Amino acid sequence: MDHFEELKKICVGRTTNAPAELCCYAADGSQIKGKPDYVLFPHTTEEVSQILAYANIHLIPVTARGAGTGMAGGAVPVQGGILLDLSQMNRILSIDIDNIQVTVEAGLIADKLNEALKPYGFFFPPDPGSAATCTIGGQIANNASGMRCVKYGTTKNYVLNLEVVLADGTVIETGRNCLKSSAGYDLSRLYVGSEGTLGIITKAVLKIAPIPQARKLVMVSFPSPESAGLSVSRVFAAGVIPSACEILDKTSVSVLTKLDPNIIFPRDGDVVLFEVDGSKNAVDESAEMLAKACEEMSSSILITDDPAKMKEIWDARRMVGAAVSKLDPTKTRVYAGEDLGVPIRKLPEAISKVYEITNEVGITPMIYGHVGDGTVHVGLFIDVLDENDWKKLHIAADKLHLAAIELGGTVSSEHGIGAARGMYLEKQCGPAFEVMKAIKKALDPNGILNPGKLGL
Ligand code: MLT
Ligand code: ZN
Repeated sequence: MDHFEELKKICVGRTTNAPAELCCYAADGSQIKGKPDYVLFPHTTEEVSQILAYANIHLIPVTARGAGTGMAGGAVPVQGGILLDLSQMNRILSIDIDNIQVTVEAGLIADKLNEALKPYGFFFPPDPGSAATCTIGGQIANNASGMRCVKYGTTKNYVLNLEVVLADGTVIETGRNCLKSSAGYDLSRLYVGSEGTLGIITKAVLKIAPIPQARKLVMVSFPSPESAGLSVSRVFAAGVIPSACEILDKTSVSVLTKLDPNIIFPRDGDVVLFEVDGSKNAVDESAEMLAKACEEMSSSILITDDPAKMKEIWDARRMVGAAVSKLDPTKTRVYAGEDLGVPIRKLPEAISKVYEITNEVGITPMIYGHVGDGTVHVGLFIDVLDENDWKKLHIAADKLHLAAIELGGTVSSEHGIGAARGMYLEKQCGPAFEVMKAIKKALDPNGILNPGKLGL
């Protein structure tokens, strides 16, 4: 049977198997590669359901993709088959302020939701670095959460209910459109971070929050990255929970200053960007308390509520991962982002460990990320033409992941496991990995959903 001919009958005029187009779907933001056999662009849940029912009978792998901004190969079809591009299912179905919730299709771009909510005075707090391009479905499937988790929580805290298409095409809702429910297993949470391995998310009901009245940024420079890491628990102990808290070590700052020599960043240290939000008075008070908590350990402190300055600083922070390759158009050097997460008190130890490991292996690291929730992104610089450098990269990445587990942390704070980190999930989970395997078997007995991911 010609599967492509059959699938074309479901998504009429919205399919491709042209080799040049398939190549566009063979990668994401990671080093993982894998080409699909055909790409389908569904417009409705019913179409997704029919595609899955067909694939399940004929044992065809199905990989869902939003915008392909993932950093672990989650949306890369490593075993070929169907690539389900959900980017055309991108409508906002309702904005329900009375119930502080919205209903959206999975292919909606995250920032578009915030644009639509702004006139109502509301926003969707989870804020991945790729919010300008990533889709809500991909964000949920990865629990990608970004900058504001320290105060607002991660994406999973905002998911009230999901519409999911199961492997055999059955359509379910994972919860109710309520702020609270203790009726049975929390299936919504099961699907957050499941990376398309248990079903395809087609719609989401999400909690939203009022836009805070005021915001203030406190940019603190520290003499060492470890003291920068320690500042987080000092700030918490002072009774301040910032709305964002981001580290940029000296290398990250130098990447940004090379890109824009006039940028407002201190040149002499490892920087932590703290932001506080709330009512005007609360923000003034929190910024002061925060600066006081850091004073003794810091080299310099800048406090600003100038919207232009704050935008410049936050735009620069968002750029830091991508800036590395922008700086080197010859592309002879790349960086491989890692995504470690540790308990806050272990931050200084984790940061020291990163330098110890990379120094031992002989590779230059760059540390940045959401230290307020324990996330330590590590960029590793290598020369892509040098085979020895690739070996070093793998040795360093291996040691870094194991170190995170040893520190009681996680091998992926927000980028997901995908095909890049499958080998570490079992080590991290211990016997709980068997529970994950049993869930996968129960929900996808034929193994068609995103095979080759999560190490399952
Ligand atoms: C970030 O925090 O910027 C992203 O999660 C990672 C990146 O794009 O480097
Ligand atoms: Zn991040």
